[in-house]
Amino acid sequence: MNLYLLGSAYVLILASFVSADVNWSKYNIYPVFANAPKCNLTTPIPGWSTLKNADGTLFTSSKRPIVLLAQQWDSSFLTTYAMQFLLEAMGYRVNVVVGTDNFTPSREFYDNVVDLELEIWPSDTPTLKNLTKTDGVAVSMGAVGYSGNVGFYVPTYMITKYPTLNFDFWRSYYNPQIISYFPPMGTGPKLDTPLSTCNGDPTSCVNGTYTPLQCRGYKSNCGELWAYDPSYSPDMVQRLLDGSGLNFTINFLGSNATQIILSAMAAKKNILFYNWSPTAFTSVQPITRVLLPGNNPSEYYKFSTSKGKTIDLTVY
Ligand SMILES: *[C@@H]1O[C@H](CO)[C@@H](O)[C@H](O)[C@H]1NC(C)=O
Ligand SMILES: *[C@@H]1O[C@H](CO)[C@@H](O)[C@H](O)[C@H]1NC(C)=O
Ligand SMILES: *[C@@H]1O[C@H](CO)[C@@H](O)[C@H](O)[C@H]1NC(C)=O
Ligand SMILES: *[C@@H]1O[C@H](CO)[C@@H](O)[C@H](O)[C@H]1NC(C)=O
Ligand SMILES: *[C@@H]1O[C@H](CO)[C@@H](O)[C@H](O)[C@H]1NC(C)=O
Ligand SMILES: *[C@@H]1O[C@H](CO)[C@@H](O)[C@H](O)[C@H]1NC(C)=O
Repeated sequence: MNLYLLGSAYVLILASFVSADVNWSKYNIYPVFANAPKCNLTTPIPGWSTLKNADGTLFTSSKRPIVLLAQQWDSSFLTTYAMQFLLEAMGYRVNVVVGTDNFTPSREFYDNVVDLELEIWPSDTPTLKNLTKTDGVAVSMGAVGYSGNVGFYVPTYMITKYPTLNFDFWRSYYNPQIISYFPPMGTGPKLDTPLSTCNGDPTSCVNGTYTPLQCRGYKSNCGELWAYDPSYSPDMVQRLLDGSGLNFTINFLGSNATQIILSAMAAKKNILFYNWSPTAFTSVQPITRVLLPGNNPSEYYKFSTSKGKTIDLTVY
């Protein structure tokens, strides 16, 4: 899927406001600025930074600071800081703020307290359509330029140990024998405190688990798929299991999932888990993505009988 830049309609047309006066907690944003150290250019770039107002003052540096919002992951910080450096090279002042764990792009655009958010995952942002189309308080400035991939992964040692089982291809999971390689449903790790995002809805998450119909029968034989939080790609993985009929339940492990996956891999266990790239985790760990059928919802929209609904997990 493409990741998006979201900017308020007022980017660069900057009214006067003082960001220090904003009650950031109202927007699920930390009340401190988190700028990268200034990028000190050895050769100043003439142009914007030297542009003058009629009274001789500098045009860009006389504007109020531009507020960029980063979310708490590496690529979001990377793109936000790259934008900070570009704007500073143009002479603008910049304030970087960071969303808390509960942050979803929303009210800050209505109240104009943030100008630009650099990396938006459409699959995790139910408010995106409202912000950019229905209410139109923000403008999507298009794809960031790198793709985000959400999908399932197995440790690479499973591929090398069992080369004929093709754990890296989704259709292999229709082989009934495959299930026996994974932890049986209900036997995997559990969180001490249930996730607040596990809402008890049987179509989403009950007691930390999603159990598709094919795994609810008396004789069902299902393995367990480990995931993070039901609010990541909301309901997409559940619907993927429904649609494919694959015999897996989902065990939601919150932010502890990474540590739990690493411990299981240290013990050379066979596991199937949800993850995504780009992240340092998927780059560095010896894991292999399971190839799922590609789905670009906009590409096949016209042929879909359930227009507007995403049926499969958007993975490339
Ligand atoms: C800031 O917003 C939070 C959350 O809405 C609220 O509880 C708090 O009272 C506000 N603080 C001020 C100083 O208005
Ligand atoms: C740029 O210069 C400032 C002031 O000398 C310094 O505080 C800052 O750390 C420098 N930034 C970098 C990235 O070296
Ligand atoms: C759009 O978001 C605003 C602010 O959160 C909300 O009041 C409104 O009901 C939403 N509209 C739709 C169609 O979801
Ligand atoms: C799931 O398990 C049931 C019961 O063992 C079996 O009948 C069915 O074929 C399995 N489905 C898949 C997709 O493997
Ligand atoms: C997450 O792991 C830590 C360290 O093992 C543990 O103390 C904590 O209780 C776990 N959190 C939950 C919600 O299980
Ligand atoms: C939820 O899970 C816990 C731990 O496995 C179990 O003890 C409890 O009975 C479950 N509750 C329900 C309502 O299924």
